Amino acid sequence: MGRLEDGRAVFVPYCLPGEKVRVRVVQEKRGHVRAELVEVLEASPDRIDARCRHFGECGGCHYQHLSYDKQLAVKHAVLVEQFQRIAGIAEPPVGAVVPSPAEWNYRNTVQFSQTQDGKLGYRAARSRQVVPISECYLPEEDINRLWPQLNLESVPGLRRIELRHADNGEMLVMEGQDALPPEMELELPISAVYLSPEKGPMIMAGDEFGVIEIMGRAFSFHAGSFFQVNTAQAEAMVQHVLDLLNLTKLTIALDVYCGVGLFSAFIAPHVQQVIGIESSPLACEDFAINLDEFENISIYQGQAEKMLPSLDIMANVVVVDPPRAGLKPQAVDALVEIGAATLVYVSCDPSTLARDTKRLQAAGYRLEKVTPFDFFPQTYHIESVSLFKLGE
Ligand SMILES: C[S@@+](CC[C@H](N)C(=O)[O-])C[C@H]1O[C@@H](n2cnc3c(N)ncnc32)[C@H](O)[C@@H]1O
Repeated sequence: MGRLEDGRAVFVPYCLPGEKVRVRVVQEKRGHVRAELVEVLEASPDRIDARCRHFGECGGCHYQHLSYDKQLAVKHAVLVEQFQRIAGIAEPPVGAVVPSPAEWNYRNTVQFSQTQDGKLGYRAARSRQVVPISECYLPEEDINRLWPQLNLESVPGLRRIELRHADNGEMLVMEGQDALPPEMELELPISAVYLSPEKGPMIMAGDEFGVIEIMGRAFSFHAGSFFQVNTAQAEAMVQHVLDLLNLTKLTIALDVYCGVGLFSAFIAPHVQQVIGIESSPLACEDFAINLDEFENISIYQGQAEKMLPSLDIMANVVVVDPPRAGLKPQAVDALVEIGAATLVYVSCDPSTLARDTKRLQAAGYRLEKVTPFDFFPQTYHIESVSLFKLGE
């Protein structure tokens, strides 16, 4: 970010602090200006050469021009700044970012877009266009071996094309507008599932479920269900969440946005009861399968903001792991009403986390500690785990 003489901020992607650059203005607003980088006149000592030939054109990566250590420093600074500016906390208790075990080839799931002639690509950085790709260093090696062999040119217009790598093999997940799956030839040793807008998941080849082991436990998930994308880092994060919770046989734990049961499965053996809340019916089915062995579990299917106020829940420990939009005000109000002594907030968006922190603090929760985990090297995404305690 730089400033114009009139004081307006200028946002220029792919520049680094301290650099002297020539830019082209692409959008002017009353309060700020957006520009694109034309030339680096004086480079920052932190600038490195990007590894991928598509960097800057493809919208998937944002930080390949920055060494990994510096990426972590930037993410730490952004998180601190969001807490200061949005939550009004002068010195937020943000610890060092836990680096990803792998800086490259860490994604077990990749979502492609299609060019107009059906080629695989990613959304462009600066437009809605699709950039056809010939290399990408974010997916796990098994996915990278596979996608160049995948030819979907005969089935253009798919809304979703995803390759997922699981312990039981690779899975192609497709979603289109038609009720029935497209006819296609697939000469690859992978599962294929079509997510029909009318009929739900339809198996075209192989398995309906992926299975991934986390900390020695196998989790199965439907083709369309959310599962953590960076498997090794998910293990580190789950362990950290468990360490924060101080679980006992008297604990009643509430796992909101519980997905297929990643946190609940590790909490259940140590506590009196676990209650999960999740809006996706398929993820709820996965949850029931993954936690089948436990008697002390219940799950409610529905939106957290509707379920939490309508259920009469008692809990002394709460984990929330919402999507980027964070917690709806009704969900915050209901959580405050429940009044658990410990609340752990797993966030994938610093700005909504900071907004919700402000609300939680106003209701008596104290932010004790924030631990960022880098799940997405080379990108600007920031995950973090925040520990809140009620009262003094
Ligand atoms: C970031 S994922 C976390 C899942 C799980 N905690 C995990 O680590 O695997 C968020 C989950 O919230 C669910 N979800 C999205 N909006 C929701 C809502 N309004 N109420 C309840 N669940 C919601 C999604 O289906 C998804 O499973």
